[in-house]
Amino acid sequence: MADSTTTSRGNWNSKLGFILAAAGSAVGLGNIWGFPTQVAENGGAAFLFIYLLCAFAIGFPVMVAELTMGRKTGRNPVGAFKALGDNKLMYSAIGMWGILCGVMILAFYTVIAGWTVSYVFEEFFFYFGMSEWATWISDTGNGPINAVFATVFMGGTVSIILGGVSDGIERATKLMMPLLIAILVIMIGYVLTQPGAGVGIKEYLFPDFSMVTPGLIFSAMGQAFFSLSLGMGALITYGSYLSKKENIPEAAAYVTLTDATIAFLAGLLIIPTMYMAQAQGVPIFDESGNLLASVALIFQVLPELFHEIGGLLGLIFGASFFFLLSLAALTSTISLLEVPVSYAIDEHDMSRNKAAKLIGGGVLIISLIISFDTSLIDVFVVIFNEVGLPLGGFLICIFLGYYWKTDNALKEMENGYPGIMTSIFAKVWPIFIKVIAPLAILYNLLSGLDII
Ligand code: PHE
Repeated sequence: MADSTTTSRGNWNSKLGFILAAAGSAVGLGNIWGFPTQVAENGGAAFLFIYLLCAFAIGFPVMVAELTMGRKTGRNPVGAFKALGDNKLMYSAIGMWGILCGVMILAFYTVIAGWTVSYVFEEFFFYFGMSEWATWISDTGNGPINAVFATVFMGGTVSIILGGVSDGIERATKLMMPLLIAILVIMIGYVLTQPGAGVGIKEYLFPDFSMVTPGLIFSAMGQAFFSLSLGMGALITYGSYLSKKENIPEAAAYVTLTDATIAFLAGLLIIPTMYMAQAQGVPIFDESGNLLASVALIFQVLPELFHEIGGLLGLIFGASFFFLLSLAALTSTISLLEVPVSYAIDEHDMSRNKAAKLIGGGVLIISLIISFDTSLIDVFVVIFNEVGLPLGGFLICIFLGYYWKTDNALKEMENGYPGIMTSIFAKVWPIFIKVIAPLAILYNLLSGLDII
């Protein structure tokens, strides 16, 4: 069986670098857009509670599984399943499914990420009194504009991937993550002192458990997989660049915690901001009395609020917010692209340069199609995110638990965590991988899809 021979493929330079890169993959539009809008749609704190449960009880064990498979084999998702699954096609197919989901997610993600960049421009145009330009550039239904910004974003992603693991991904995320956290915290500080914010905090932090339905749990689990970048092999790939000195459960705990904290903070920014907008006269409910969510919330309510605030403060607030979203998106798109790129390098002997340009270009073609028909985003979200990622996570659990075996995984984790065999982790984690996580995922998928 192949063991890790990572030096020629690239390696993380430091533990912090790895944690920031993995947290960068995790923290993205899923946290700053997806999570708060799902909270707004699904009864505030009830969703927050179920989400945290899914992230820590199901997401964290699966993350440990992915990182361990990656480090053990030093390979991309397909290579890892091949090596550990004794070359059986059935197992390599799990890796293939992951890569397909990643590619399709990257395709629609790039279009949304493009919007976040175009809205930075929108804020500037508005500030300088060029309101026609502002309206034109921020029209998310305008195919050619979507296509231009998606291309720009993909270009940025490819250029970082070309730099390789430590000089490209690690260097870029080490710069962007602290900046992202700083912008987020400063913005929360401002919002919480504004009129109306208190109502939002109450909505966000006091749960209404009558809202907990199978539909809500389905959404929360899909959101947890998406937000933690699980189920498609991103963390198998990032794990493959990890040194044997590192403690995998500890690193996974840091990444899960960072991701959940940033999602929580994003909720703390956006939900009170909505009520602050209401206090300023911006409508935040639709005709049937539901909070505006999703695209309407981020690309309609919030810009209206920024315009309402007006002046330099409105510009700073608005432009920083969309810049924050762009940064978060970029640290995620690089991990989405790195997965198929590492596959092409490992399995097809391609150079990084060729792989990044070829695959980036190929995915961009799908993004361009989506740019002209954005209703495809909803279809992609259901197939590749809400179903695809939990399904991938389920298959990873079954493969690791019953084929490769949790004992073998624990032996790999002994590197970097010498006392692991006698720890509680070694007793509990296998139960989560073999029983709890797969059952919860399966039940949830079947009930969410109305099969049971
Ligand atoms: N975790 C990212 C987010 O929250 C999205 C993502 C999914 C990235 C899967 C990589 C893999 O936005």
